[in-house]
Amino acid sequence: MQALLDDILEQVRPLLGQGKLADYIPALAEVPAERLGIAVCGVDGSLYTAGDASEAFSIQSISKVFSLVQAIQYSGEDIWQRLGHEPSGQPFNSLVQLEFERGRPRNPFINAGALVICDINQSRFAAPALSMRDFVRRLAGNAQLVADAKVAESEYQHRARNAAAAYLMQSFGNFHNEVEAVLRSYFHHCALAMSCVDLARACGFLANQGRCPQSGEAILTPRQTQQVNAIMATSGLYDEAGNFAYRVGLPGKSGVGGGIVAVVPGRFSVCVWSPELNAAGNSLAGLRALELLSERIGWSVF
Ligand code: DON
Repeated sequence: MQALLDDILEQVRPLLGQGKLADYIPALAEVPAERLGIAVCGVDGSLYTAGDASEAFSIQSISKVFSLVQAIQYSGEDIWQRLGHEPSGQPFNSLVQLEFERGRPRNPFINAGALVICDINQSRFAAPALSMRDFVRRLAGNAQLVADAKVAESEYQHRARNAAAAYLMQSFGNFHNEVEAVLRSYFHHCALAMSCVDLARACGFLANQGRCPQSGEAILTPRQTQQVNAIMATSGLYDEAGNFAYRVGLPGKSGVGGGIVAVVPGRFSVCVWSPELNAAGNSLAGLRALELLSERIGWSVF
């Protein structure tokens, strides 16, 4: 595995320089563009890394997996009264479908769906940002994890589209808490700074029937774990979910910070990071690295 990861990074390195940093959140445009890292966490707790695997970056939409898991833990199947689990076929911040579909987002991984999930969690937790931070600290086994306050503030200052989605849902009666407070929680989750190692470890339970490989703690039931992986496989990369299924064939979740996590059920979780994005907002070199990985291990859930 170690030789494989080293080799994959060598192969994708020439792609650096071909993508574009997310600049609609100004703080993200300041990240060094040439970073490249990968970490694999086995269901036996083993860890393999290559490149910049220990450098923290903004997890952005990868946080949507953790907020969905918290919502399932505390609110169970009821959450599906508020949103769906269908792919959207639209960019992550699109608003068009939301009006046609009367304020009910297609899935928890587009921004509108993640905002509804945050609204659900806002009703459950006295301090949603802190409970999320503590949850990922536990999952990653890293008590030092924090949100980058500068990124969170930058997102809040440029919140127009997310605010529009939330207020539109409120107009349809599908938003229960104060919009600005839920936006603050959502941006705090997105601004969590984690490394490939942290994220591979934090997602280990998704490869291990819901049980954290390091601590043995049950996070979800085996059935709920299959369901979260199914939503990642169908919606984790937005309007590029089909391309990701075709090229990589694993449940995955991307973020505009350039991270992508993917899950090989029963074997390992993996996180790759390269900040430059393709036109769909997914890490350009990261996607290629995962494609090479699934090709080389000869494995796809399909
Ligand atoms: O709300 C946003 O637009 C960002 N905080 C997160 C978007 C994101 O990561 C989409 N990922 N590819």
